[in-house]
Amino acid sequence: MCGIVGYNGGLDAKEILLKGLEKLEYRGYDSAGIAVRNEEGVTVFKEKGRIADLRASVNLNVSADIGIGHTRWATHGVPNKLNAHPHQSTSGRFTLVHNGVIENYHLLQKAYLKGIQMQSDTDTEVIVQLVDLFAKEGLSTVEAFRKTLSLLHGSYALALLDQEDEDTIYVAKNKSPLLVGVGEGFNVVASDAMAMLQVTDQFIELRDKEVVLVHKDKVEITTLDGRAVERKPFTAELDASDIEKGTYPHYMLKEMDEQPGVVRKIIQEYSNEAGELTIDDQILEAIKAADRLYIIAAGTSYHAGLVGKQYFEKLAGIPVEVHISSEFGYNMPLLSEKPLFIFITQSGETADSRQVLVKVKELNYPALTITNVPGSTLSREADYTLLLHAGPEIAVASTKAYVAQVAVLAIAAYVTGKSLGKGVVLDLKQELAIVANGIQTIVDSKDELEQIAEDYLKIARNAFFIGRNLDFCVSVEGALKLKEISYIQAEGFAGGELKHGTIALIEEGTPVFALATQEQVALNIRGNVKEVVARGANACIISMEGLNEEGDRLVIPKVHTLLTPLVAVVPLQLISYYAALHRRCDVDKPRNLAKSVTVE
Ligand code: F6R
Repeated sequence: MCGIVGYNGGLDAKEILLKGLEKLEYRGYDSAGIAVRNEEGVTVFKEKGRIADLRASVNLNVSADIGIGHTRWATHGVPNKLNAHPHQSTSGRFTLVHNGVIENYHLLQKAYLKGIQMQSDTDTEVIVQLVDLFAKEGLSTVEAFRKTLSLLHGSYALALLDQEDEDTIYVAKNKSPLLVGVGEGFNVVASDAMAMLQVTDQFIELRDKEVVLVHKDKVEITTLDGRAVERKPFTAELDASDIEKGTYPHYMLKEMDEQPGVVRKIIQEYSNEAGELTIDDQILEAIKAADRLYIIAAGTSYHAGLVGKQYFEKLAGIPVEVHISSEFGYNMPLLSEKPLFIFITQSGETADSRQVLVKVKELNYPALTITNVPGSTLSREADYTLLLHAGPEIAVASTKAYVAQVAVLAIAAYVTGKSLGKGVVLDLKQELAIVANGIQTIVDSKDELEQIAEDYLKIARNAFFIGRNLDFCVSVEGALKLKEISYIQAEGFAGGELKHGTIALIEEGTPVFALATQEQVALNIRGNVKEVVARGANACIISMEGLNEEGDRLVIPKVHTLLTPLVAVVPLQLISYYAALHRRCDVDKPRNLAKSVTVE
């Protein structure tokens, strides 16, 4: 989703800003821009489309050492050059980039800006016009900025330049992520540390509604009412090489290949000195103290939650509800007496999930976040965090983070079950090691998976994924992967549901991917396959060793029944990837999608 960068220092600002925006490209955007300031004033460059288009439009002769930049994912107003950020006040004095959504922008416009001709359709322009208005009324820039912030309802991360101030980027945030990076003789602003790792790994977290002045040689943080705040930087533990594609054609392929290593890393990170799987004591006690777990998540993370529910119920005997975050927030079910909320989120920034966390904290319930990003908003605001240790996931379509989420959920449930004396019989550590090897076998079978994609999906308009029990949880994730990157309409559902409606859609040649990894229901799903084949479907059975039959198109290595989602999802990811390639889709940056969905 939208990204922000800012630079104030001794070097060429525009190159640092453009490089920063390139690092944010993976988050999804449809236009981009930068503004730089020198003795001649502020110059804005913006373009619809890719950063490469913006780069081509930048006048290389403009040299400046302070500037701000933005990638925009359209919310208010279509994606075009006019609506791209930065936005300027009519006088040209102030220039602003903004992530988030200002809910009351229409009201503010009516109340304060009646005489002003707006140049864009965005909510952002209202903010910059307000700062200008209050400055014209005699307030200093920081006072005008504060006054504007006090009027805003909604989410924002802001970076503002004042034509009359050569040494300050004015910064603030509310519910949207923003960091200040510190260096020797320069300071930077970024909505994601990755954007500025090129110049520093030292970052300061900002809290909601703080007002921050980023100068070349210092950073001043104050509360909205002006009280000074001291905060030390932290070291961003990201390896710049983790965010490079290397020789891979796509991040998604690289990240799928990393999955065996991710499972092994998780085993290591969650093992104690005695070599046993473990989780933090406080987290274990919080889970044990709960009479019901409420898993809250969106998209792929929600699908991981569906698997997690089975783990906690089967291994630890704790009842679990899994909820889509955007639904839960506005339609809260009756809660148990001692709930524990578990937020599953790769990015730790998803606005839909965060709004639930805010409500949960208002109600004083404990919350645990399972995330890949230490220091992310949902991690900071929850009582506890379990990290995924998957390394940065850049491709918009989540692959290794899903596998990591399922593995961490398995460990948390297993450790809880053991501690509760639930007679857990499996050796999870050993079984996860077998899973890692199983995933490796699949990622090494790319030719076969490419062929499956070609045979079943090259000309398909739609596709179905069916499974029962844990295979059902994987089938919905398989369908999501296919639709988001190949744009083939896909649906995942429980095999038993076919005859209750969906089978009406099956016609000659309709691709149906059927998972058969669950012994208890293997015969039933094969029965469902017969039903669709009888109606013309082109069925692709993916079974597991030991349950396979002649004619199955792919047989995945045998793993423990409970852990099949970790392995079964991988061929579906790769089939989706190759289907997208056949259709010449932009695999890493699918249309209309953003990596980190920071608006509700
Ligand atoms: C799909 C995908 C999304 C995310 C969803 C939640 O591949 O990645 O469905 O799972 O947007 O994001 P996080 O996990 O960051 O909360």
